[in-house]
Amino acid sequence: MQRVVCPGSFDPVTNGHLDIVSRAAGLYDEVVVAVLINITKRTLFTVDERVEMLREVTKSYGNVHVERFHGLLVDFCAANGITAVVKGLRAVSDFEYEMQMAQMNYRLAKVETLFMTTNPLYSFLRSSLVKDVARYGGDVSGLVPDYVLERLRARLAED
Ligand code: PNS
Repeated sequence: MQRVVCPGSFDPVTNGHLDIVSRAAGLYDEVVVAVLINITKRTLFTVDERVEMLREVTKSYGNVHVERFHGLLVDFCAANGITAVVKGLRAVSDFEYEMQMAQMNYRLAKVETLFMTTNPLYSFLRSSLVKDVARYGGDVSGLVPDYVLERLRARLAED
């Protein structure tokens, strides 16, 4: 059984994330989407909210599970029988940072990292950009799942 992890902050999950998760779900027996608990980072959504949204938008995939983690990703992998990390690469600008993390994770615990090129439809997409555009009234429909779009609008309306 091959269990892999798609880790991230997912603040909030975008269609780019979902594209990678769904493609990983087609390749591996089980995909764990792992949301980093990082108390030092200011986020728009709490960890619980991010986990709940991810569970909602991945519920049609029988082999995708959403969990949270803190500390080192390699420790989460060891505790959960995960042998590889699957990440999306959007552009060359992602490469350096991703390569450093991949090499560190391999050095720490021989955890492999497999990169998938993102769907070109989403190669410009990142959660922070979505939040920025939505905050100032820009249209982000089609960039995040409809469920997330509603949650995003509601949260931004609270401010
Ligand atoms: O969505 P993000 O914020 O780019 O995701 C980054 C994430 C969560 C994959 C990365 O920060 C991570 O794995 N953090 C856990 C701590 C850790 O293991 N750090 C060393 C990685 S080399």
